[in-house]
Amino acid sequence: METPYRWLRRPGRAPALAYGADYNPEQWPRSTWDADIRAMNAAGVTIVSLAIFSWARLEPAEGEYDFGWLDEVMDLLHAGGIAVDLATATASPPPWLTARHPEILPVDVHGATVWPGGRQHWRPTSPVFRAHALRLVRAMAGRYGGHPALAAWHVSNELGCHNVYDYSDDAAAAFRTWLTERYGDLDALNAAWGTAFWSQHYSNWAQILPPRQAATHPNPTQQLDFKRFSSDALKDHLRAERDVLRELTPDVPVTTNFMVMGEQKPMDYADWAAEVDFVANDHYVQRGPRAQDELSFSANLTGHIAGRRPWFLMEHSTSAVNWQPINVPKKPGELARDSLTHVAHGADAVCFFQWRQSRAGAEKYHSAMLPHAGVDSEVFRSVAELGATLRRLAPVAGTARTRARAAILFDWTSWWASEQDSHPTDRLRYRREALDWYSAFLDLGVRADVLPAGQDFSGYDLVVAPVLHVVPAALAERLRAYVAAGGHLVTTYFSGIVDEHDHVWLDGYPGPLRDLLGIRIEEFAPLGDDERAELDNGLTGTLWTDAVTVTGADVEVLASYKGGAPAITRRTVGTGSAAYVSTRLGPDGLAPVLRDLLDRAGVPGELPAELRGRVELAVRGDFRFLINRTAEPVELAGVAGEVLHGTPGRLEPRGVTVLRHPA
Ligand code: GLA
Ligand code: GLA
Repeated sequence: METPYRWLRRPGRAPALAYGADYNPEQWPRSTWDADIRAMNAAGVTIVSLAIFSWARLEPAEGEYDFGWLDEVMDLLHAGGIAVDLATATASPPPWLTARHPEILPVDVHGATVWPGGRQHWRPTSPVFRAHALRLVRAMAGRYGGHPALAAWHVSNELGCHNVYDYSDDAAAAFRTWLTERYGDLDALNAAWGTAFWSQHYSNWAQILPPRQAATHPNPTQQLDFKRFSSDALKDHLRAERDVLRELTPDVPVTTNFMVMGEQKPMDYADWAAEVDFVANDHYVQRGPRAQDELSFSANLTGHIAGRRPWFLMEHSTSAVNWQPINVPKKPGELARDSLTHVAHGADAVCFFQWRQSRAGAEKYHSAMLPHAGVDSEVFRSVAELGATLRRLAPVAGTARTRARAAILFDWTSWWASEQDSHPTDRLRYRREALDWYSAFLDLGVRADVLPAGQDFSGYDLVVAPVLHVVPAALAERLRAYVAAGGHLVTTYFSGIVDEHDHVWLDGYPGPLRDLLGIRIEEFAPLGDDERAELDNGLTGTLWTDAVTVTGADVEVLASYKGGAPAITRRTVGTGSAAYVSTRLGPDGLAPVLRDLLDRAGVPGELPAELRGRVELAVRGDFRFLINRTAEPVELAGVAGEVLHGTPGRLEPRGVTVLRHPA
């Protein structure tokens, strides 16, 4: 998919990696601002995101603007050599607006109002909210479009972080319009939603509602379409603000911060990417044994959503956050390693939430570049050190990601559909399975791209499609063509089960992939939490098993369940192949399976054997990033290149070495 691409507007500046944070000066007295700019310069900050939550300050009463303070901040930043990613300031509507127009407040699944008091309390589909927001965007663009500090526009903030699923009457009306465009007439909708079931036939569009709290499981296709619609509704808001900005300031690039991280699944960012001039992402580390792999996975996926071109890391944390049950600080080295892992996967800007740690408000215990302790602190010293590192890495700026030979397909529709209710198990986690495979690649020291399923995967030697649950006929055809051309496809349990309407493919699972895989399954056999499935190769499956019957010629059973039924199969198709893994093996179990599949496909690791597993490799053109996955030093034998960052011959604990490797 070709997306437009326009990076920060910084006339006359040499390419560089941008560095900075969200800056919220309105939380501080005027006297703090000069100290902020001095400390930003000391830290090497080159850009800040400004005015994200400033609506109440900028428009204290309807139609009355107070731009004086922001004018001054913009001028101060510019004088200090710091660029601005300026927010449209629409993320959090002010109390005067919600008091006067309570009809902009979202409604939850039970019909309860989502009240103001936090942030993002607005309906994506409210025409009243939209009108007020666009009026502010117009005022912002008119006021600051020509300001020399302005490098990019930042639409709203983390669209959908809190308000994606709104069940209000506005949402119902917009949902009906969306459905009319999708289906054309009610017959098509009734067929797609399978409304013959449970007497749900619609005879009038006005009868259709969002899937509000029902007596029991609401219609699954209605649920899936509501997820599609809700992603589109926010995308529509993004476009509306962007169109005002493009009209008034056509030469200023527009972005918004995505949330490719963890279980943030409602927004289909692969679909949104074409709407922005450059992709920006926020990422926060979720504690756990594979936290670092998850960071890499998210950065990798973001890089592919961005079409391999540089993207902007809009937020991550210098240390602890405040919104997890237990918020532990980062360990020595983690701040830089996390940042540089994003750079390794294509980030040309490294920014944090936020510049100065708040004294008041809900995020006062969230870390920042300048912590409560002040400049005389470990965090600030690490922040300044990272600023210097990013300056040294300036040659990397503008370099595209280099394709790997293997890819993992990632598909929002399958994520949404595979985790709906009333399924064989409610324990299945789509992203976790994808991440298990990614960890297995990392453990083997083999690079894999994390690729939205809509993108072209034909050039990869091996493609893993974990839990590719929704397989419309066209996708099945792409997969068949890929294998016919010599590609090696690997897929798993609960793949190829339904079409785009969430209707089951008949005559045995996995319907449209049955012949390609040379297998047939009559019944799913998920496992209880305390059940295990032993395989004859010594591995153990959890979560799921299938009773697989081999139906095709040229199918080899690579592993069986104890008792003899096939667990892992691989069909040879000309020079290509199609493999199936019918249980959850986890990263440790997948590693030997993947090793075998990679060997058979002829995909080698690019790292010296002694580094595999301990080191992650990421490549951007001539630049190779070696990321220490351990807390121990690693001797770097057998990797050549000019050292741009890091200690020659040695990878520090949690460290990153960057080598320039002329082609
Ligand atoms: C999100 C928001 C920020 C802040 C951080 C805290 O990313 O965009 O405003 O709340 O979370 O982690
Ligand atoms: C009940 C209902 C049926 C069906 C089954 C499913 O028995 O009467 O319509 O929903 O549950 O277990």
